[in-house]
Amino acid sequence: MPLEYKTVYLNGQYLPLCDAKVSVMDRGFLFGDGIYEVIPSYSGKLFHFQEHMRRLENSLSSIRVPNPYDRAQWLEILTPLLDANLDQYIYLQITRGVSDKRDHAFPEHVTPTVFAMCSNIVPVAGLESGVKALSVDDSRWELCNVKATTLLANILLRQQAVEQGCAEAILVKDGYVTEGAASNIFAVIDGILITPPIGNEILPGITREVVLELAEQNNIPYSEDIISLDALQTAEEIWLTSSTREIVPVVQLDDEIIANGKPGPIWRAMNQLFQAYKQSYHE
Ligand code: PDD
Repeated sequence: MPLEYKTVYLNGQYLPLCDAKVSVMDRGFLFGDGIYEVIPSYSGKLFHFQEHMRRLENSLSSIRVPNPYDRAQWLEILTPLLDANLDQYIYLQITRGVSDKRDHAFPEHVTPTVFAMCSNIVPVAGLESGVKALSVDDSRWELCNVKATTLLANILLRQQAVEQGCAEAILVKDGYVTEGAASNIFAVIDGILITPPIGNEILPGITREVVLELAEQNNIPYSEDIISLDALQTAEEIWLTSSTREIVPVVQLDDEIIANGKPGPIWRAMNQLFQAYKQSYHE
């Protein structure tokens, strides 16, 4: 089916993408005043739905937009968009809504705009051989725990990486890595899997949470701790995690080759655990 006829959800209706229209006075368009979620779906079932809903609720309350639906209603809205035969992800966006004038302060009587669509998960190119990453200054704001649609800094940083032949930008704040432009970061240092702790400098990734649970259950030593850029440059392994790319090994950071330039043994083990967990999750 041509993309323009794919069914999407907008404000209570299912309609072809080409008919899904939002006002130019929507605060999402004018200000980036909204939040979003990306939820993977395997065989038509949403992965860690409750955790994604918990993060959605936190994002909404952080920007003071009322949640228009409860979790059961969200599930009812999103399920018809899924294909039971494919690996996909839902993109769900909620903005503060449409106002009759452009004013930075919140409008008084406004209904949130709700949009959702589903896309296929495309396997990351070169996963088996690993990818390159570029370290860049983390120029974002102080609410990185909120999954805000206001992504200009992330976009500029990712583009900088892409223009240098890299798959992702690794963001560095005061000498310590925070996360990727659209992913969380893990490093293996002295045999221990390390990821920066949750806080307002990173998005609490659901894939990150699953990886930590799998490490715990399978006796892989791990710790949530700060990682300096210097330590990252000499790490045994570096990985990036996200809902759409899963667990991606980094084999080159800037001009430094990581270890022997191949995905490491702990990545291989974790990726196998993750794939098996995905399969078993809904059986
Ligand atoms: N991004 N950090 C940032 C800044 C992100 O944008 C993402 C995901 C993550 C990983 O979170 P999760 O494991 O829950 O996907 C971390 C999504 C995929 C996106 O913006 O498209």
